[in-house]
Amino acid sequence: MATSKLPRKRIDVEEITSHLSTASPEDKAKLTLRYETLVRWAKERWQELNGNKPFVTLWASENCGNHLVRTRLKAGRKIKGQISYLGYETLDCPYVVPISDYRLPGRKPMLMETVGSFLFRFKVGERSLQAIYVSSYYSDDERSIIAIVLIPEHQLETWAAFEIHCNKAARYLERTQSVYIVGGTNTSFKPNVEWDEVILPDGIKNDLRADMEAFFKDGVPIYKQLNLAPFRKLLLVGPPGTGKTTLCAALAGLALKQRRVVVYVSGADEDGASFHKIHHALNVVASANHPVLLIVEEIDVYLRKDDKAQILNVLDGLESPNNPKGALLLATTNYPEVIDERIAKRPGRVDRIIYIPPIQDEDQARQMLKRYMGAQYQPEQDAVVADLIGQTGAFVREVALHARMLAAHNRQTLVTLDVLQKSVQSLSTQLSTGDDLRPRRRMGFAERNSRNLLGS
Ligand SMILES: Nc1ncnc2c1ncn2[C@@H]1O[C@H](COP(=O)(O)OP(=O)(O)OP(=O)(O)O)[C@@H](O)[C@H]1O
Ligand SMILES: [Mg+2]
Repeated sequence: MATSKLPRKRIDVEEITSHLSTASPEDKAKLTLRYETLVRWAKERWQELNGNKPFVTLWASENCGNHLVRTRLKAGRKIKGQISYLGYETLDCPYVVPISDYRLPGRKPMLMETVGSFLFRFKVGERSLQAIYVSSYYSDDERSIIAIVLIPEHQLETWAAFEIHCNKAARYLERTQSVYIVGGTNTSFKPNVEWDEVILPDGIKNDLRADMEAFFKDGVPIYKQLNLAPFRKLLLVGPPGTGKTTLCAALAGLALKQRRVVVYVSGADEDGASFHKIHHALNVVASANHPVLLIVEEIDVYLRKDDKAQILNVLDGLESPNNPKGALLLATTNYPEVIDERIAKRPGRVDRIIYIPPIQDEDQARQMLKRYMGAQYQPEQDAVVADLIGQTGAFVREVALHARMLAAHNRQTLVTLDVLQKSVQSLSTQLSTGDDLRPRRRMGFAERNSRNLLGS
């Protein structure tokens, strides 16, 4: 057995004493107490189960106590040569600090760090054996975990093989919750839009999808050959309501089908847009061990604040995450002029800028109308199609909802053209009045550069 594969060393009293000599008196009390209590408890269990059978006590990996790891490692699994893992049983230890599912409020955990006491069972050839494992938080408000294990003498190899498997399993991100959301709540972003439900010019959709696929499939090795961190950056730009978020959700859906990790940064919680969220997201991206799609909406907000230099460093590559499996940043903004010079005019900061336009032609307008009229669509309603050109998807959705609601309210089973036209009219009026109330903001980027953006 290679010594490098050995797990933590045997517990050495001198080592602990020397560790304690540098700890504060308070920490000393906590550490001694916690560790000693756990060992004492485990020894008593050992004697109950095995009588005087000799054992050794080791520092163990905290990953063996992790809830996700335990659900991932299936009983009956061969872990090395003649050694199989037979499963576990939960033991009841009154000294384990009961903090499980460590998570920050409103955030999804990357890994549920759990502690507890377990009896792990193994089979080595024809012999079965068990290990008593106990892990605990250092104290109620301290995240570091102490873990020990009692195993039969001469069974270091079994435990070492098991720890290696646990550590491997722990390296994978939590996959049951589909999107890892930083900031905001679990409902901030849902990847529940089908690709076909996004109504945009085919060129834009196809290019974007092809870009993502090409990057993850073929691009990553090319970045590596060039000694660059495989981090690609796309920016979706367009007026409010044209479908940027919808597109992100649909791309996230596609990414998840390919078993990629999706990380979404939301500025929608009480913390607002702050760099520490991006920083946290980048840590997740770097440690994911999976290809990652990183979505940052309204990136302009971060760039207007004091920490914009840090964001620029990320975009420049100085602080980019190095995830060897590849990371694709999909950012969105309404206000290209805010990031205009900083980003658009500096090649390399963003690899591609994709303009997401309002409805461009009758065909698109009709598709959008059909989508939001649903079963209540009738060909005669196409008479409003021409009025929808230049409007956004959000506009059509609202027009259709409003018309359907009015019809239902008037006990009409059909949405007549008249009702629909009125709905278009009233929303257009509302929006143009609204424009007068707002300070004018020039969507300069879109107009000035749209040709370049669409073409490149
Ligand atoms: N291109 C589109 N295809 C289908 N539905 C759309 C499209 N654009 C907008 N919608 C509808 O309008 C709603 C608002 O659109 P969405 O949130 O995607 O816009 P956005 O571009 O992200 O706007 P903002 O810039 O204000 O964040 C969506 O929930 C969707 O129902
Ligand atoms: Mg949006």
